[in-house]
Amino acid sequence: MSVLIKNGRIVTATDDYIADVFIEGEVITAIGKNLSVKADTTINASGKIVMPGGIDPHVHLDMPFMGTYSSDNYETGTRAALHGGTTMVIDFILQKQGNSLRAALEEWKGRSDGNCISDYSFHMAVTDFNGDTKKEIQEMIEKEGITSFKTFMAYKGALMIDDRQMIGLMQEVKKHGGLINVHATNGDMIDYLIAKHKAEGKLSPLYHYLSQPEVTEAEASGRFADMANYTGCPGYIVHLTCEGALNAVRNATRRNQKLFVETCIQYLILDASLYENNFEGAKWVMSPPLREKKDQDTLWAGINQGLVNVVATDHCPFMWEQKLMGKDDFSKIPNGHPAIENRMELLFSEGVDKGKISLNKFVEVASTNAAKIFGMFPKKGTIAVGSDADIVLFDPNEKHILSASTHHMNVDYSGYEGWELTGKVKTVLLRGKVVINNNECLVSKGYGQFIKRNKVSSII
Ligand code: URP
Ligand code: ZN
Ligand code: ZN
Repeated sequence: MSVLIKNGRIVTATDDYIADVFIEGEVITAIGKNLSVKADTTINASGKIVMPGGIDPHVHLDMPFMGTYSSDNYETGTRAALHGGTTMVIDFILQKQGNSLRAALEEWKGRSDGNCISDYSFHMAVTDFNGDTKKEIQEMIEKEGITSFKTFMAYKGALMIDDRQMIGLMQEVKKHGGLINVHATNGDMIDYLIAKHKAEGKLSPLYHYLSQPEVTEAEASGRFADMANYTGCPGYIVHLTCEGALNAVRNATRRNQKLFVETCIQYLILDASLYENNFEGAKWVMSPPLREKKDQDTLWAGINQGLVNVVATDHCPFMWEQKLMGKDDFSKIPNGHPAIENRMELLFSEGVDKGKISLNKFVEVASTNAAKIFGMFPKKGTIAVGSDADIVLFDPNEKHILSASTHHMNVDYSGYEGWELTGKVKTVLLRGKVVINNNECLVSKGYGQFIKRNKVSSII
């Protein structure tokens, strides 16, 4: 099957021009003005932006967490992703402490195999680094194509590793060409503050925020940077939220260290005042918590300075009933918020349309950099001859309203209820097939492929 996309405004991380794109099978085979080719399907893209499919490298689907499971499974979550212009996600496998990485991989395959609609991959979260898990790192990278390893500096007793394990893991991962992702917050400080607030009877969602002050993130980010520098291991800080943490990264660049940084859409556009409305604030209980307006300014600036490389979601949705698990104790509210479907449109509307970032920067942080950092470029993350035909046709002028009553995520509220956005995903192609057209999903579960990733680079 062949598809011709005619007269679109092609935008990549570096280019912006009007042309046609010709697709044969799953890949782009020609790009040019007035291509004279015969196609099975022709799509008129005049007036539309034609950009690479979004890549969200931080999602948690059907994940066991805090005594429950995130409410989007691999089918609903990846379908919602496609509706929002994201054609590939990277989800997290969590090793159970005391068990092997292999056992965790098999458990996650059991839930995901045959169920995805968008393409997908996994990061492997190493929660127990020991002599046995050490031996599994090379196999994960070379056999499974899982080249990034997540670490938690918080959630003690379930996910957190100590610095001794971190250093050992970094050395092993570096040896085999992988990368370490980190949830960089100081778990011990946070646990102390949670216990203190609870002892004082301070139990509302506001105290989730007050138990994770900026210093807990700044300290851990700096410590992680130092360990990555010492071991020479490529590092990637997930969901960075604040000025203090970004300054730790800035300091690392002064000694010529390259450390990748991800923020998430919510930290750019929402702030901690949402925690003031009593239990309603549970909708935004996530870790790290939302920060202040000055942190939003820092993050937008960080994107333009090239310090923040990726805008992801940390999509980890829970139904309202699940959030109610913490109605009398903020520490029992399942942490996470839904955004997999909204990321691209929110970033365009709040970022490009409001003049905070350029259109090329938008593509870079929503797609291209994730493909480069996580070993998938140029198969994914750009529009070029030979790349997978993962393409979004986007109307930059259409206005629409976000609501739980119209979204496709399996969650009964929206963190952005009633927000009016400018710019809408109209058509999405994944590996040459039209998968979304005018709000309709045209493929079923199983269409999404697991993408084995290459060894990573410490330079993008
Ligand atoms: O609140 C969050 N972020 N939930 C998901 C787990 C994590 O820390 O990324
Ligand atoms: Zn995290
Ligand atoms: Zn996460």
